Amino acid sequence: MGWNEGYVTNLLYTYGYYTELNPLTARLLLLINGIACKSEFDTACELGFGQGMSVNIHAASSSTSWYGTDFNPAQVDFAKSLAKKSELKVNLYDDSFEQFVNNPDIPNFDFIGLHGIWSWISDESREAILKIIEKKLNVGGVVYCSYNVDPGFTVISPIQHLMKRYNDLNHHGSSDPRCISDSVNFIEDLFNLNAKYALANPTLKERLKRISSQDRHYLAHEFFNSHWDLFPFDEIAKQFEDVKLNFAVSADFKDSVPNVNLTFEQQAKLNQIDDRVFRETVRDFMLNQQFRRDYFVKGLRFLTPLEQREQLLKLKFMLKQSTKNFEYKLQAPIGEFTLKQEMYEPLLKLFADLKAHSVAEILETYKNLNLSSLMSCLIILSAKGTITVVQDPSSKVVDSALRLNKQILTNYTSTNNIHFLASPVTGGGILVNTLDQILIKAYQNQQVSL
Ligand SMILES: C[S@@+](CC[C@H](N)C(=O)[O-])C[C@H]1O[C@@H](n2cnc3c(N)ncnc32)[C@H](O)[C@@H]1O
Repeated sequence: MGWNEGYVTNLLYTYGYYTELNPLTARLLLLINGIACKSEFDTACELGFGQGMSVNIHAASSSTSWYGTDFNPAQVDFAKSLAKKSELKVNLYDDSFEQFVNNPDIPNFDFIGLHGIWSWISDESREAILKIIEKKLNVGGVVYCSYNVDPGFTVISPIQHLMKRYNDLNHHGSSDPRCISDSVNFIEDLFNLNAKYALANPTLKERLKRISSQDRHYLAHEFFNSHWDLFPFDEIAKQFEDVKLNFAVSADFKDSVPNVNLTFEQQAKLNQIDDRVFRETVRDFMLNQQFRRDYFVKGLRFLTPLEQREQLLKLKFMLKQSTKNFEYKLQAPIGEFTLKQEMYEPLLKLFADLKAHSVAEILETYKNLNLSSLMSCLIILSAKGTITVVQDPSSKVVDSALRLNKQILTNYTSTNNIHFLASPVTGGGILVNTLDQILIKAYQNQQVSL
């Protein structure tokens, strides 16, 4: 099959950043859910890093020593040249997963992340990833993994098959954006002819519309690989259990607040299920889940309430987004969830000073809030993107984040469609719109002052 194992490699991937790959996000969600987590992540690794935006941003904005691999040499070249120009200490390889496990230069890791990989590769590549985890993840280490799941994605499965087959027969499996568009159009035409499959699955029309509007580079990697597998959550969890990992928590902030996802009756039904993995699998049916983002831990251990309290009190948060148009609402699976203004307004006032505030300090200031209700508010504000958990960065970390940002702004934003900059306080990436990018660049060049 060749080095690319049937994976799309001649159409390069997009320049996205994923906050779930930030170990600080993992730590916050584990602690909120009462699960023990390392206080420091000394070493971390991203498998299948694509264009390497996430791995470079994480390497620039934290003191963690980052490693990564992706077998597409053109993408690795981009990621390495950005790292070199920004003088980042990051270790990037073009090994396949199969090769990486035997790479003598890689250490053991406290965190291993893979985003957009699991459902789109062969059984052999999944085996290789499990081997990397088995051999290289430290005890207490965390794995982040995302994947498509049953039952939400199930109806799409025949569509993926048809689009891929059409493209193989008519365009020799090309990932040229025009061929991808033609294959999507073929399905749309079919739907317009009232194909009974479309009539029997009325939600598909909307989904096909969404697919049709998506970036062709993304679609090529999402639907046109040789491998495309769908599993129910418990089968995925079982594969990780075989290498001593346990499911810990979902990486979606909203999932840590049951009331925004499920009715009380649904929650009661789920609470009757003792097995955590089976409970999640049933929950996926409640939510018609199609895509999951999860953290797994090697040696899952629950904290005592006292331990959890002590660690939560030390967490610090700060404002991430202007609150000018803040709406006291959250769009959630249960529908529009209304946030109680009397609880959130004082918090927004506190964060308006653009400083970091510890949970202990907030509790001290707002004596009417208890720890559990405060943490729910902080998680909901994090889910809305209003605030973020932060760290105290060293001056070295501040300097490397600034170097990376300068490179991105000077040489890459317009040509590569990059919308993220590194933040030494969040330890990760921040979405920055084009106007703000221009203003930051002008400020750096001393054309404007604050
Ligand atoms: C959908 S992309 C996701 C990229 C990145 N994680 C992101 O989300 O932006 C999947 C990536 O996995 C890489 N990949 C696929 N199979 C691989 C293998 N067996 N070994 C190494 N990399 C692989 C591809 O080259 C591609 O860059």
